[in-house]
Amino acid sequence: MKAAVYRQFGPPDVVRVEEIAKPLPGSNEVLVKVHASTVSAADHRARGRDVPRGLGLLAAPALGIFRPRRRVLGMDVAGVVEAVGADVSKFQPGDAVIAMLGASFGGHAEYACVPSEGAITAKPRNMTFEDAVTLVFGGLTARVFLGRAGVKPGDTVLVNGASGAVGTAAVQLAKQLGAHVTGVSSAANAGLVASLGADRVLDYSAVDVTTEGRTYDVAMDCVGNLPFERAAAAINPGGALLLVVADLKAILLAPWRSRASGKRVTAGRVRYTAEDLAFLVRLAEQGHYQSVRDRSYDLADVVAAHRFVDAGRKRGNVVLQMPASTTARVS
Ligand SMILES: NC(=O)c1ccc[n+]([C@@H]2O[C@H](COP(=O)([O-])OP(=O)(O)OC[C@H]3O[C@@H](n4cnc5c(N)ncnc54)[C@H](OP(=O)(O)O)[C@@H]3O)[C@@H](O)[C@H]2O)c1
Repeated sequence: MKAAVYRQFGPPDVVRVEEIAKPLPGSNEVLVKVHASTVSAADHRARGRDVPRGLGLLAAPALGIFRPRRRVLGMDVAGVVEAVGADVSKFQPGDAVIAMLGASFGGHAEYACVPSEGAITAKPRNMTFEDAVTLVFGGLTARVFLGRAGVKPGDTVLVNGASGAVGTAAVQLAKQLGAHVTGVSSAANAGLVASLGADRVLDYSAVDVTTEGRTYDVAMDCVGNLPFERAAAAINPGGALLLVVADLKAILLAPWRSRASGKRVTAGRVRYTAEDLAFLVRLAEQGHYQSVRDRSYDLADVVAAHRFVDAGRKRGNVVLQMPASTTARVS
């Protein structure tokens, strides 16, 4: 099969499209014929070993020390089940699915194996594979972090980095929970963030949310420039700071800061589940969740896709289409 392979860490052009062996599903695995994946911030981080300060050593076992541990990037897939292992009863060949591969990666290929008990569920019936795959990376991350804060109707929620994959999902999910949402983005993306339901949109080049004089029940940092030291004064007593991006110090100090400040600080990796993915699919099928897709690239153009993501300016998600899927279908 064709796959985007990287054999050394580095800039986008370390990735090459190669022929590699098609994976064989284990007894508890599902083999998915991939139609679409995304090139995400996580692919950028893994490929360039660009992890938040202090996390290099901790990330090394997962990413590799001298060379990449996983040769094929891609944390998410949308596709069709081609075969199932002997012990799999939940899925059968022909099922259209979306799945999160997480730190195992492997989505930038024509086929990927997914544990049947992992974060895999039926694709939304009303979305193409290209749109459906955008639910996975940002959607799951936003759902887990917002869940940690227990957002309730009427809460005020600040989403910093509201135009990225996680931010666009967080704005939509916080609105679904009945919150009053403020999104922070560049002026160029204010219209996008408002179209997702944000009640207020702030341009970070004009307004500093930490000195604006407003406070929030929940602040979510999807950029990495709103650490506890800056954000604390803008969070209400008993509120929460969700650090989607955090360095080692922020992760280690989070429990202590929560106790000392009475404001819940949460950071670290997310556990992805099929239940959360199915929740997002239900929202999408009810018309309450919008896919935010910036550009789509063919697998052959994977290096250009990485370059675009590396620039840090993507709006929502960048989709990678596999060779046989250029006519993505609904249902
Ligand atoms: N903890 C976890 O388990 C976990 C899981 C997933 C992702 N993450 C991390 O979360 C981060 C966000 O991921 P993502 O996929 O949403 O990233 P992304 O899609 O690459 O984010 C790009 C967006 O960042 C915005 N941005 C850049 N500078 C900004 C600033 N100063 N203020 C506000 N927005 C700014 C850009 O908006 P403008 O163009 O409008 O400036 C752009 O739309 C990444 O660092 C990723 O590694 C962590």
